[in-house]
Amino acid sequence: MLKIAFAEPKLPTAGTYAVAVSADRTLSPEGLELDKKLGGALRRAMNASRFTGKRDEVLAVLSPHDLSVQRVLLYGVGKAEELSDLRLQGVGAAILAHLNQAGESEATVSVGRLGGATGTAAQRAVELAYGALLRSYRFDKYRTREKPEKKPSLKKLTVAVTGASAAQRSFMTREKIADGVFMTRDLVSEPPNVLHPPGMAEHARTLAKLGVDVEVLGLKDLKKLGMGALIGVAQGSAHEPHVVVMRWSGDPKGRDRKPVAFCGKGVTFDTGGISLKPAAGMEDMKWDMAGSGAVVGLMKTLAGRRARVNAVGIVGMVENMPSATAQRPSDIVKSMSGQTIEVLNTDAEGRLVLADVLWYCQDRFKPRFMVDLATLTGAIVVALGSEHAGLFSNNDELAEKLLAAGKSTGELLWRMPLSEAYDQEIDSDVADVKNISGGRGGGGIIGAQFLQRFVNNAPWAHLDIAGMAWSKKDQGTVPKGATAFGVRLLDRLVADNYESS
Ligand code: BES
Ligand code: MN
Ligand code: ZN
Repeated sequence: MLKIAFAEPKLPTAGTYAVAVSADRTLSPEGLELDKKLGGALRRAMNASRFTGKRDEVLAVLSPHDLSVQRVLLYGVGKAEELSDLRLQGVGAAILAHLNQAGESEATVSVGRLGGATGTAAQRAVELAYGALLRSYRFDKYRTREKPEKKPSLKKLTVAVTGASAAQRSFMTREKIADGVFMTRDLVSEPPNVLHPPGMAEHARTLAKLGVDVEVLGLKDLKKLGMGALIGVAQGSAHEPHVVVMRWSGDPKGRDRKPVAFCGKGVTFDTGGISLKPAAGMEDMKWDMAGSGAVVGLMKTLAGRRARVNAVGIVGMVENMPSATAQRPSDIVKSMSGQTIEVLNTDAEGRLVLADVLWYCQDRFKPRFMVDLATLTGAIVVALGSEHAGLFSNNDELAEKLLAAGKSTGELLWRMPLSEAYDQEIDSDVADVKNISGGRGGGGIIGAQFLQRFVNNAPWAHLDIAGMAWSKKDQGTVPKGATAFGVRLLDRLVADNYESS
């Protein structure tokens, strides 16, 4: 685990000393001082290379003469006046990635008089450190024979800045966000033989020690509630389905106010069921529980930072398997809402799970709003790729707040339409609604329209995160693998709009 600390500016005596360079090889004041001390070695090194101080570029100067540090790392920040919070996080991530590759074990990053950007130096230091922390995540619990030289090397990162104790204090909140993000990344990375519905219930129970009230509903409870749609998906699996309800009551003053609510699709493995998926790429369906993973991580963050909000998180956990007991295309199930559903494709299972979870959520908690997260459709990936999650909502105000939180955190959303005309496409000939449309178009929208039939007009937003939950490459603060998309976004939604002061 990487340790991050803040300290007042001082030339370190070991490890790496990192100083900022802005566009066109402009050394920061600290860099200039150091360069003078080194007889112009830094400037010569820059001139001898292609390094110009672009954002996320780095240049290492090894064993500088007359200094006890092992290396000076010049890190590019681009144009200082364009250095937003998100970009600072990216810079922190780039430095961290470089140091881990270089085999360094300790480093001091000078943020001192970086200049240009808004906010105080201490605030900028927090952003940079947060980016480094987010990038430091690695899922390696199943690597038992890894060579030490392949492991990340950095143990300690010190951020040197005036006002270090203020930075340290404000960083505590960021660490809580990272705790939630890391929990989500862990859950989503776990293989499906470990992270099955009861496995997820066990992980969710660990939130109790943070003061979260955790209830685990099993098959018997779900039957009593009438969750026939969710149960139908799970009936081909050897694992019992679970619905986990997590409650964080951080706003006692708002005791009488309705809670905010987050619901997650938790298909721990999606084979497609009898409408079986092809073999190629099926392994990706271990992360078909990313929505539920994000909800659990979000609850961990809210409780960890003791957010002044009353929040409910509900996840519907099932495994979608083909077997002698699996549901068939053309089965008709009865949802908790009372509506009957014709299941024409057993691979459109996420919507069946959420139909019951969303109904249950609004019925029991009468929330101020519900946001669901789901790896719901391949169609949303076709439409938006891996740059935006699809946002669907029956409430413009909620949608605007979500879009804004997306921009602030870099977890971007793109709003998609809902309408009567799309809704008609899921009218069934034999039941109240069918789980797929007859046509091939607008698959992401059809999925959302289906969900909307189960929200009972409560303010609601659906995030289709199928293109966002897993990354095939390292991307700034998000190392490749599980992204935990949604945790930072929804934490920000709450922090900016729904916490009492
Ligand atoms: N879990 C999938 C959606 C998915 C696809 C997530 C790719 C992540 C990456 C979902 O359950 C599914 O199978 N959806 C079908 C719906 C179709 C049968 C209407 C799809 O998108 O093909
Ligand atoms: Mn499916
Ligand atoms: Zn699925």
